[in-house]
Amino acid sequence: MTLLANPLAQGIQEYRIADPCTIVIFGATGDLSARKLLPSLFNLARQRLFPPGTCVVGAALDDISEEEFKNRAADSIRQHSRTQPVDPGLLADFLSALHYQPVKFDESSGFESLKSKLDELDSRRQTGGNRIFYCAVPPQAFPLLVEQIGKTGLAEQGQAYRRIVFEKPFGTDLLTARELTATINRVFPEQSVFRIDHYLGKETVQNIAAFRFANVLFEPVWNNQYVDSLQITVAEELGVELRGGYYDHAGALRDIVQNHLLQVLALVTMEPPVSFDQGSVRDEKVKVLRSISPISGDAVAERTVRAQYSAGWVQGRKVPGYREEQFVSPDSTTETYVALKLGIDNWRWAGVPIFARTGKRMPKRITEVRIQFKRPPHLTFGMDSVREVEPNAIVLRIQPEEGISLGFAAKVPTAGIRLRSVNMDFLYTSSFLVDTPDAYERLILDCMVGDATLFTRADEVDAAWTLIDPIEEAWRSGSQPVVSYPSGSWGPTEAEQLLARDGGQWRRL
Ligand code: BG6
Repeated sequence: MTLLANPLAQGIQEYRIADPCTIVIFGATGDLSARKLLPSLFNLARQRLFPPGTCVVGAALDDISEEEFKNRAADSIRQHSRTQPVDPGLLADFLSALHYQPVKFDESSGFESLKSKLDELDSRRQTGGNRIFYCAVPPQAFPLLVEQIGKTGLAEQGQAYRRIVFEKPFGTDLLTARELTATINRVFPEQSVFRIDHYLGKETVQNIAAFRFANVLFEPVWNNQYVDSLQITVAEELGVELRGGYYDHAGALRDIVQNHLLQVLALVTMEPPVSFDQGSVRDEKVKVLRSISPISGDAVAERTVRAQYSAGWVQGRKVPGYREEQFVSPDSTTETYVALKLGIDNWRWAGVPIFARTGKRMPKRITEVRIQFKRPPHLTFGMDSVREVEPNAIVLRIQPEEGISLGFAAKVPTAGIRLRSVNMDFLYTSSFLVDTPDAYERLILDCMVGDATLFTRADEVDAAWTLIDPIEEAWRSGSQPVVSYPSGSWGPTEAEQLLARDGGQWRRL
């Protein structure tokens, strides 16, 4: 059975074809390139989504030869490609479009050589001069890198396009994010700036919009008249691994809540956009992010929980506490877990509590949104019959076992009337017989065709920092000490109390 003969796979191959371009990866010898960028680029090429002539230029501090870069790239692709085994012929083709240029960000000579290389590739490979600069480097290097790109004239557009992609974190607070945007906009206009939040590239995150706005059933009840509360969980089994140097200055609030979690929340709660294009979707997300009431001052202690993992067991493996991790200060107070009670001040959501939590070293990796509906207004079947029944709920499962589940009450097949909660499940894997592309494949391709819908705009980033800054400020003032939770648990008891105060509890996962 070929893919196209299968009705369940219909539409899946309908990708847009971009114009040829050169993709320059700054930080090409780093971890993100090895694990995500190079394998994703290879998979785009494998699916023939790489327009002929397109090539990739790695640029990094390492003084290595092009041959050595290709060898390293081949190893990363063999190890991390989502499709296995990697076809040697396709890999060789891909490697032939790969180049390398050593650059030191504080020296202009490397950038001059890069410019000559790009000019030569433009004419040899007929890329039309289109270029994407992908900044897979530590955020402290962003301003200097942009400045060097500007000084060397690499960003001058003419007929061709020049785009720039930034990995998160984008700033460390509102002020630094704004400064960074101003620095970038001196070299690249805003419409050429693509800020990555890889959660937006996940199929299931995009499906939130499809579920809400391509069906008539759900939108009429998606409001405070019917919804009792929302719960968002972003749980990871992993600890901080080797990223302690970055993470110890960031913490879970900046690392996950400021971006991934608020983006998911925005998609779940925004008003219907006029169409699914970059202007309309991002306008709606900004509107709803601005309607979230900021938590500040005394409310921070009441509505936030801040915790750090101690040693424990995860999936049968003994793991160290956060303070024992490599590159982490032994007296660190950085949070690896956050729980929040949020609220949205608009007509649709006023009065609906939103509970959000994220943590590392949880019992399992799971990301989901639960829309908890109210109880029916009248107990037709009496109190006894409903005692064991949960009110309706819709669970949007983002990962793993991607899908949607609808919980409702059904009659137990016995003589009397007894009710029980049952689930109706949609699972991506059984409904669509294709491998889901990696989020980075989708996002790189969107950048190549110039579609920024799934990238965060400057005003969205600002709106998110506006919510994060007062919480960080209160935490820094020492008014709320970080509490601890054992690795392999679902977080501290304080997080349970946060919901218990509203008569709720976290969904058992
Ligand atoms: C990254 C965070 O943005 O997202 C990491 O910096 C986190 O700390 C990762 O582990 C989670 O991504 P995913 O796709 O595995 O849920």
